[in-house]
Amino acid sequence: MNKADTSSFTVVIAIDGPAASGKSTVARALAARLGYRFLNSGDLYRAITWNCLSQDVDCRNVGAVASAVGNSHVEIGCDGTDYYPVVDGADPRAHLREQVVNANVSPVSAVPAVRYILSAAIRVHAQGRQTVVEGRDIGSAVFPETPYKFYIDAPAQVRQRRRRDQGQTEEIAKRDFIDSTRSTDPLTIAPGATVIDTSTLDVEGVVAAMVEKICAQGLVFDRTRR
Ligand code: DC
Repeated sequence: MNKADTSSFTVVIAIDGPAASGKSTVARALAARLGYRFLNSGDLYRAITWNCLSQDVDCRNVGAVASAVGNSHVEIGCDGTDYYPVVDGADPRAHLREQVVNANVSPVSAVPAVRYILSAAIRVHAQGRQTVVEGRDIGSAVFPETPYKFYIDAPAQVRQRRRRDQGQTEEIAKRDFIDSTRSTDPLTIAPGATVIDTSTLDVEGVVAAMVEKICAQGLVFDRTRR
């Protein structure tokens, strides 16, 4: 297979892990290193949550959330190399890390209709492209067929401290509990995923470990990229 051929193939590198494990940072860095797209699927769940809150939908009411998401239109917009959610034509990026979104995103993400719609949008986005996708269920449920799967982790205290250092107040333990115990596509280590603990490694160290792994699996990419 020559290089031109590979560019039209779907390649997904799935990176899952709990809140504040560092997966967004390493996923973005890995995508830059490989020349791949980067998609933060958590931002899509945050965007739906923001959209529900903007319409005064009760985020604890499964039926109300399902109805709101069913009536909304979710797209993935592009801004240079950034891919971001667009809901009903609005760009919610300025609101995605607001406290009220942090507090409601896990229950909204547990609604099966939300997961169904967003998983479909992520699959369409990745079709025929090379993408690093990070989230909670990317390797286990959205792209179970990809051979390139990572699970990024760190102890809960380390993750809570990271959020505090970023000036954010997030109840990490509560989010972990809801994300990993929901009935549809819970956070889990996908079969075959490589687990990396980020508490003692810097971003470069994690990316180097991932590159080594995917090379060993036979993925071909431009190794001169930095
Ligand atoms: O990665 P994050 O903390 O920004 O994600 C926000 C929430 O979105 C998280 O609590 C669970 C949900 N999520 C999900 O259920 N599935 C994904 N693939 C990504 C995020």
